[in-house]
Amino acid sequence: MGIDSTSAAHRPIGLFDSGLGGLTVLRELERLMPDERFVYLGDTARLPYGTKGAATITRYALECASFLLRHDIKALVVACNTASSIALSALREAMPCDVIGTIDPAVARAVAVTARGGIGVIGTDATIASGAYERAIAAIAPRCTVVSHACPLFVPVVEQGMFDGEIVDKIIELYLSKFDFTQIDTLILGCTHYPLLKSAIARYVGTSVTLVDSAYPIAHELGRILEESGRLAQRRVVRAPASFFVTDEVSRFNRLAALLLGKESVTAVRTEELADDITAEQSSSPDVTIQ
Ligand code: DGL
Repeated sequence: MGIDSTSAAHRPIGLFDSGLGGLTVLRELERLMPDERFVYLGDTARLPYGTKGAATITRYALECASFLLRHDIKALVVACNTASSIALSALREAMPCDVIGTIDPAVARAVAVTARGGIGVIGTDATIASGAYERAIAAIAPRCTVVSHACPLFVPVVEQGMFDGEIVDKIIELYLSKFDFTQIDTLILGCTHYPLLKSAIARYVGTSVTLVDSAYPIAHELGRILEESGRLAQRRVVRAPASFFVTDEVSRFNRLAALLLGKESVTAVRTEELADDITAEQSSSPDVTIQ
């Protein structure tokens, strides 16, 4: 961390995801930290991340982080479970600011709410294959049992703006019927797109299963970190709107972001130059420690 606390408070917080999913985290950050400014990057041109290999995901994550760094951010929220599962340690090494991922905050919450210690995890192929949730749960609650399944069709469905309905219900059944819900009382939505399917998922799993996602735990944890280091933004008279950037066409993102954030218009700016200031050393490093 190379940022001094007095000058850092007014700097924005950066967050990125492959697409819309990170907006579920932004929504919660804005709710809990209304005086902060946010810069959001959706890497829509390269979505989905969840079907890619570890070296590619790490390169994309480093490029997104590098772009956000140009906005003088004081903290980076990796609002993508796939990038958090695969690239968190590479991001922490590369970034001169706090980097907070999705896994540990969600796991802490799931462990706190599970009554019987049976935790289910759903996520992208890459997240589930990484075993990041199993490791994080074992580290703080070794007696919990964990069952995880990838749900690869959830992201494209959400990116189409389909959050409910007959097709969504069928896809939910396809994946969630693999769980034995007599053994699991807590289900981690291990992808930031999935909270947008929360009502439909809740209907399928019923009231005996608690759904946990990372949005609130991340916002809470980041608020704590910034407060403790004196870097929380000072109260603003007028709320500063978040800035949005996407790497693909802006209009679809605009429409869906407006829908999600309850705003009439969200400004999105096209960018295709994420990698500009990535150093050769970072972009050529294929070795990743999975976290
Ligand atoms: N929203 C992302 C996640 O939390 C990634 C979805 C994807 O691009 O596959 O994993």
